[in-house]
Amino acid sequence: MPGSRITSLGHYQPARVLTNHDLEQLVETNDEWIKQRTGIANRRIAAEEETVADMAAEAAAKALASSGLEPSDIGLITVATCSNRDRCPSTAAQVAARLGIPNAVCFDLNNGCAGFCTALSTADHTLRAGAAKHALVIGAEKMSDLLDWTDRSTCILLGDGAGAAVLSATDDEAGIGPVVWGSDPSRGDAVRLMGDWQPRFAQEGQSVFRWATSELPAMAREACARAGLTPADLGGVVTHQANLRIIESLTRHLGLPDDVVIARDVVDAGNTSAASVPLALSKLVESRELPSGSPVLLFAFGGGLSWAGQVITAP
Ligand SMILES: CC(C)(COP(=O)(O)OP(=O)(O)OC[C@H]1O[C@@H](n2cnc3c(N)ncnc32)[C@H](O)[C@@H]1OP(=O)(O)O)[C@@H](O)C(=O)NCCC(=O)NCCS
Repeated sequence: MPGSRITSLGHYQPARVLTNHDLEQLVETNDEWIKQRTGIANRRIAAEEETVADMAAEAAAKALASSGLEPSDIGLITVATCSNRDRCPSTAAQVAARLGIPNAVCFDLNNGCAGFCTALSTADHTLRAGAAKHALVIGAEKMSDLLDWTDRSTCILLGDGAGAAVLSATDDEAGIGPVVWGSDPSRGDAVRLMGDWQPRFAQEGQSVFRWATSELPAMAREACARAGLTPADLGGVVTHQANLRIIESLTRHLGLPDDVVIARDVVDAGNTSAASVPLALSKLVESRELPSGSPVLLFAFGGGLSWAGQVITAP
C-alpha cells in the first residue's frame, strides 16, 4: 500500500465577524497598526455556547458529505486542538457521536498550531500500516476562550474556526508526502497556554517572528525535496496563518513563481491555531483556486516550539 490521499475537505467559521474597528472599542489599537504588523483585517468569534466539538463536527460533516463515504467507513478520527475544554470524551469522540460514526478510533492531538499537519501525517502513517482505511483529520479551535481581551498585544491576533479532511488509503500514487517535523524545547516559552483551568494565550512575538522568518524556508525546502519536488514545482503553499509578513517572507525566500497560489486567509480569519491550515486549504479548493491534483506545501509551526509540514496532492 503506497500511502493515502486527501479525497475531500470541509470548513466552518462562526457567524460573528470581529473587525479591527471593533477591537478599537476594546483596547488601545487601530486598524492601521494591526494590518501593517499582521495583515489581519477580520477574525471570526464563536458564540458563547459554541464549542470546539460543534465547529469540528460542522467541518467534518461537510468533508464527509463530499467524500461519497458512509459514516461507517471512517476508521479513525483525530482532532488537532489546544483549546478544547472537555478532556473526555475527546473532541474526536464527540464528532463521532454527532456524525453517527460507529466504530472509529477517536483521539485528540495537541501540538499547538502545528497540530493539523502533525495529525495529517499521524493518520497517513496509520493508514499506511493498514490499521484503518479512511480517516477524518480535523483542526478546530476556539481561541477566543483563551484570550485576555484587555491585552492588545494578543487579543487582536486570534480567531475561531475549523477545517477537516477525509483521508483514504490508496493503492496508486500517494497523496501525502513525507513529513518534516520536530521541536525545539529550548524555545518552549515562546508561545504559551499554561497554568490554570482556562489559561491565557501568551507569546514572545518578536522572537517567534525572527525564528519563523529565518528557519521556515529551509524546512519548507526540505518538505519539497522529500516529496521529490522543488518549490517551483508547487501549485500552492498553505502555511500556518499567523502573520501575513511571515507568509510573504517565506514566499520570497522560496523564490516561488507568480502562478503558485499562496494562502492568505489570515487576512479574514486571523490566527486560528491548529485550524488555520485546513481552513485555508479547504477554502482554496472550494473556490477552485487550487486545481485538483496540484502539489501543495502545507507547513505549520507554533507552541513547543514545534513544526510539521508535508506536500499533499490537492483533492
Ligand atoms: C505579535 C506581532 C504581530 C507583534 O508585532 P511587532 O512588530 O513584533 O510589535 P511589538 O510587539 O514589538 O510591539 C511594537 C509596539 O507596538 C505596541 N503594540 C502592541 N500591540 C499593539 C496593538 N494591538 N496596537 C497598537 N500597538 C500595539 C507595543 O506596545 C509596542 O510599543 P512600544 O514600541 O511603545 O513598546 C509579531 O511579533 C508577530 O506576529 N510575531 C509572530 C507571532 C507568531 O507567529 N506566533 C505564532 C503563534 S502560533
